[in-house]
Amino acid sequence: MAILVPAKSGFTFRIMIFFLLFVCPMCLPFYSSAKRNDRPIIGVLAQEVYSQKPNQTAYIAASYVKFLESAGARVVPVMINQTLEEYKKLFNSINGILYPGGGVSIISSGYERAAKIFYELAIEANSRGDYFPAWGTCLGFEQLMHLTSEKTLLSQTNTSGVPLPLNFTNEIKDSRMFKDFPALLMEDLATEALTENSHKWSLAVLTLNSNEELKKFYKVLSTNTDGKVEFVSTVEAYDYPIYGTQWHPEKNAFEWTRPYIPHSPSAIKTTFYMAQFFVSEARKSLHKFQTEEEESKALIYNYSPVYTGPKSAFEQIFLF
Ligand SMILES: *[C@@H]1O[C@H](CO)[C@@H](O)[C@H](O)[C@H]1NC(C)=O
Ligand SMILES: *[C@@H]1O[C@H](CO)[C@@H](O)[C@H](O)[C@H]1NC(C)=O
Ligand SMILES: *[C@@H]1O[C@H](CO)[C@@H](O)[C@H](O)[C@H]1NC(C)=O
Ligand SMILES: *[C@@H]1O[C@H](CO)[C@@H](O)[C@H](O)[C@H]1NC(C)=O
Repeated sequence: MAILVPAKSGFTFRIMIFFLLFVCPMCLPFYSSAKRNDRPIIGVLAQEVYSQKPNQTAYIAASYVKFLESAGARVVPVMINQTLEEYKKLFNSINGILYPGGGVSIISSGYERAAKIFYELAIEANSRGDYFPAWGTCLGFEQLMHLTSEKTLLSQTNTSGVPLPLNFTNEIKDSRMFKDFPALLMEDLATEALTENSHKWSLAVLTLNSNEELKKFYKVLSTNTDGKVEFVSTVEAYDYPIYGTQWHPEKNAFEWTRPYIPHSPSAIKTTFYMAQFFVSEARKSLHKFQTEEEESKALIYNYSPVYTGPKSAFEQIFLF
């Protein structure tokens, strides 16, 4: 475009050259922000309520919503039992998905069915260069392992309600997830019990290493042990923006009903640096709702959380 201008006027040409040489390097962040989505919307997957009541069949713990909102994302609940067409439409409207922790089946439940559909859509989209990140926490981590391996590979561990330090692997050096973490926080994560574990099942390191599918798909960033079984605690996929933590980054800042949830300054920073990482991944996705009306109807702002603490593991939940 600039080439056509100098034919008209040498002055304009000099202006253009000046602009190209001296001003444009400064335009770069502006240009890249045009390709960055600063209004990311992330889906959080609902799951079956343990004892269902009329109009209370599925829930999302509010801490996952706060976690994402704290880093500059808005949230859309991904309901269970929707049609494949509905899920495909939603997939093309949102910029990432989070599979929360919980207690439903990872082999057969509404949660599993939706997780599988979004996982397959994400793999397909990312393979053709359409960025779409996915994150699994605790049950969501176990769900990801099941989706990738198509096998039931978990081992029982004594890890229901313990904060642990992360045992980082050598892979941490070139990880995407921890790249922007401050060195001091990495040190605290490695030495202080900042990551809350609430799970009876884990993926043993030996199991991952003996499963070709998992081994070639996931880079193991940290491990932990219950004293008997060494298990995988943090992963990122080598070739896809797919991430998992067996522990709960969202709880430190937002859940208070259990005495073993860490709330130290470094524990709170852990929540926010993890959220910041995943939301920055979602900013690379350019999916959007077809209309503003569709977007506003889908947002979690249409629902009010209910206070369920101190009896529950969660302070607040959204019921659907
Ligand atoms: C369930 O929700 C529907 C629609 O929101 C409402 O009309 C109905 O009264 C509710 N039923 C109960 C038992 O709360
Ligand atoms: C989902 O469908 C199953 C079986 O069709 C049903 O039992 C369950 O109550 C439904 N849950 C929700 C949240 O719609
Ligand atoms: C499980 O771990 C806790 C510490 O987190 C310990 O007190 C308890 O004895 C362990 N139980 C078993 C059966 O190993
Ligand atoms: C950390 O992981 C290494 C490598 O698997 C293992 O040798 C070491 O015992 C682990 N340390 C702890 C504290 O779990």
